[in-house]
Amino acid sequence: MRAVKKKSCCLGLMCLLLVIFILYCKQPGYIVDISYKSERIPRNLLEYGLEKPGGQFSHIPHKVKNTVLRRLTRNDCNCEGEETLLSSFVGQDAVTQLELVFDAAKRHEVTQRREKEYQHFLQRTRSSADTLLIAKANSPLEYPIQGVEVRPMKTILIPGLKLQTKSHHLLEVNLTATLGTFDVVAEVDEVTIEGAGEMHLSLSSSQVDNLNRQLQFVTYTNTVFNPNTADTVLLKTDRHQAAFTIKIRHPVIPKLYNVENQSGYNISDLVTIATKTFLRYDKLRQLISSIRKYYPSVTIIIADDNSDTQKIEGAFIDQYFMPFQKGWFAGRNLAVSQVKTKYLLWVDDDFIFASDTKLEKMVDVLEKTTLDLVGGSVREITTYSATFLHKLSVEQGGKEGDCLIIHRGYYHQVEGFPNCFVTDATINFFMARTEKVQQVGFDPHITRQGHLEFFVDGLGLLHIGSCSDVMIDHASKITMPWRKKSESEQMYHRLRYVQGSEVDGNLQNKLFYFKNRFKCIRYG
Ligand SMILES: *[C@@H]1O[C@H](CO)[C@@H](O)[C@H](O)[C@H]1NC(C)=O
Ligand SMILES: *[C@@H]1O[C@H](CO)[C@@H](O)[C@H](O)[C@H]1NC(C)=O
Ligand SMILES: *[C@@H]1O[C@H](CO)[C@@H](O)[C@H](O)[C@H]1NC(C)=O
Repeated sequence: MRAVKKKSCCLGLMCLLLVIFILYCKQPGYIVDISYKSERIPRNLLEYGLEKPGGQFSHIPHKVKNTVLRRLTRNDCNCEGEETLLSSFVGQDAVTQLELVFDAAKRHEVTQRREKEYQHFLQRTRSSADTLLIAKANSPLEYPIQGVEVRPMKTILIPGLKLQTKSHHLLEVNLTATLGTFDVVAEVDEVTIEGAGEMHLSLSSSQVDNLNRQLQFVTYTNTVFNPNTADTVLLKTDRHQAAFTIKIRHPVIPKLYNVENQSGYNISDLVTIATKTFLRYDKLRQLISSIRKYYPSVTIIIADDNSDTQKIEGAFIDQYFMPFQKGWFAGRNLAVSQVKTKYLLWVDDDFIFASDTKLEKMVDVLEKTTLDLVGGSVREITTYSATFLHKLSVEQGGKEGDCLIIHRGYYHQVEGFPNCFVTDATINFFMARTEKVQQVGFDPHITRQGHLEFFVDGLGLLHIGSCSDVMIDHASKITMPWRKKSESEQMYHRLRYVQGSEVDGNLQNKLFYFKNRFKCIRYG
């Protein structure tokens, strides 16, 4: 009898434990929906505080200033424009309508697929901290406009909450959040607190000073783990309301390079030279011996996708072999991924170092400014050198995609460096913060030709300059036109330029259309 009782008691206990366990697992708040939704933020919140256009003032006469109106950013860009010097210079049409690179039969489907991917991208990269909030006039509410931030699942005091009123009625302040809870670190006399530890906190008192003291003790705890988002907090009294955001994010973890202090810049310590080679070992050897004349111990990384490979001998050289014809950007990615120094210098395999290839100058600019990348100048023939400075801008174009506008030139000179200019894209000879180039990466789809694509991907991520007084020679262009091309030169030409366009001549434009969501390109 006793044994049976004991047994059923045990069974009961186990059942109880199981139920507790199941309840624990099922506790709400352990499941967070982070799937893509058509509406991320409720519309009423999105337009919080915004008046309808015109609204109550629409009857008041006004005169439009067309010069300013035209400059206004709208959502209807197009690339129509006149033939310019640059477009004839680059030998391209001034305007490229990107949609046309797809077969007419496929266009509609591609556009729809792009739209879906774009909406997902927006949901990943935006949070309610990016939405428009308007502070209404005559509100007795004081609250933080921006700069409130909490680490995921952590607690902060909300700064700056206050009620400005002389009223002697019962006062009530409500706070509402969606991704976390409120509480108070102290309870103030004569204040009633409701909803501590919940997403809706209500404070009331007949004493405004007591209520304000209590507001200084309000905390916010993030309870839904979904970093890089934001919580929009609604702050309400009986007749007024306001909204502000609390950003939820991890700190940005820095990647710092530990370089020992020395007098002057030790280039071997600070810089790795990266290049990609294909069918041009003679050029590559010429490049390496020219580097060694000036920088005997700087590390050189070579990405090599030849089929008949040759080992490049020498100290401080790392040669990485890749499958045959893996391509230009894939090789750049591989080389860049292996760099261990603070900076990397990109050179083409047919460049030649000269006495004015002063890497110290580039390091100096990168050490003393906030630039991430500085380009130099490539000398084509003894009197002509190219810097290839381009400004890129993206105009809003609504559903069909945006417009990429490419201008020659720069924005402004760099203070303290009279030969350096700030721009958006430079020539193939540049020094950059390793970590930033790795962050942008080179799209490995681009196999034969490509350059601007990297700078388009990096727009907004890279802060770019170019210094015209750091020179490098370009071997290929110095050869005399009557000299017969060697067999490997002929093959290089065939594979890079002739066959390259046979594989998919529209590849770059397809990437611009789908990946970067442009509808057209204009060289302006
Ligand atoms: C504040 O919240 C309480 C409790 O949820 C509610 O009863 C009250 O109506 C709210 N007051 C205002 C001004 O929103
Ligand atoms: C590093 O060296 C430079 C000159 O060689 C000197 O001016 C600077 O104070 C040194 N910095 C540190 C942190 O030692
Ligand atoms: C520069 O750094 C390299 C590698 O750390 C080192 O071997 C070399 O001695 C340094 N050169 C100078 C001049 O300090």
